[in-house]
Amino acid sequence: MALRRNKITVVGAGFVGATAAHWAAAKELGNVVLIDIIEGMPQGKGLDLMEASPVEGFDADVIGTNDYADTANSDVVIITAGIPRKPGMSRDDLLNTNTNIVKSVTEQVAKYSPEAFLIIVSNPLDAMVYVAHQVSGFPTNRVMGMAGVLDSARFRTFIAMELGVSVKDIQAFVLGGHGDTMVPLPRYTTVSGIPIPDLMPQERIDAIVDRTRKGGGEIVSLLKTGSAFYAPSAACVQMAESILKDQKRILPCAAYCDKEYDVGGYYVGVPVMLGTGGVEKVIEIQLTAEEKAAFDSSVDAVKELVEIIKL
Ligand code: APR
Repeated sequence: MALRRNKITVVGAGFVGATAAHWAAAKELGNVVLIDIIEGMPQGKGLDLMEASPVEGFDADVIGTNDYADTANSDVVIITAGIPRKPGMSRDDLLNTNTNIVKSVTEQVAKYSPEAFLIIVSNPLDAMVYVAHQVSGFPTNRVMGMAGVLDSARFRTFIAMELGVSVKDIQAFVLGGHGDTMVPLPRYTTVSGIPIPDLMPQERIDAIVDRTRKGGGEIVSLLKTGSAFYAPSAACVQMAESILKDQKRILPCAAYCDKEYDVGGYYVGVPVMLGTGGVEKVIEIQLTAEEKAAFDSSVDAVKELVEIIKL
């Protein structure tokens, strides 16, 4: 087989999508196709990004399009199409609109790139991954959602700010659904191997956990006209990189769990190994009774949304 550059399609060329294209091109993960329903906008952003390549020195062709034929045979497709959350709007309010959008784009994506890995970003995340899985008919290892990498990045950021240490030394873990029901796990969260309960009082941990849970809402209330995009786009590109380079990184992602954690066939945030086989493994960790209860209520919230969608 002739070697070729990887091909990454980003559906939705808005804030998250365009910034994901930027990170992916700058990291030379492959050629990038930006697609949107708005005419001209993805073409303009694609060309603009391509024109940054001589300055930044990256070899990646970037194009924008409104035609799914241009996305054919993509290796990874990142789906960000949808409407973002407005101030005062919960992720779940987005449910109906984004279900229809994710359904229609997934049909097109699956038709033109039947072998692709799908990384869903559109909210409400856990429900949208479920939609993409149902509509594409792809095996579960090839359909996943970006939530945990973002949530744990927020957790890590706040710990670094609190302790005045490098973000690089902080490892953090969050489980469960994306949203107010996410379950940060302080006992698996360390600074260079030192668990954070040894480094800060419980009330500071509680405050940071609370801020992490509401991390998306904090950005929405500051921006007023949109939702977070730098960190979400960086997070989905990290997932794509782990797959495309077969890094086998262990990252928290929305992955299909049946017997795992007794979830019973839903997408929910769990630690997974991402490599050339996509979600190669769901890693099960021992949870305390309290953590398990928090995880279960997070799964219940996902189930409720999926019930409403009833595909
Ligand atoms: N096909 C392709 N693109 C679409 C479609 C569609 N059917 N419907 C909407 N879009 C595009 C819009 O035209 C817009 O350019 O999706 C893009 C979304 O971009 P933004 O409005 O800037 O939203 P963004 O901040 O990027 O968030 C996208 O990610 O984090 C989540 O909650 C967020 O669901 C939202 C998504």
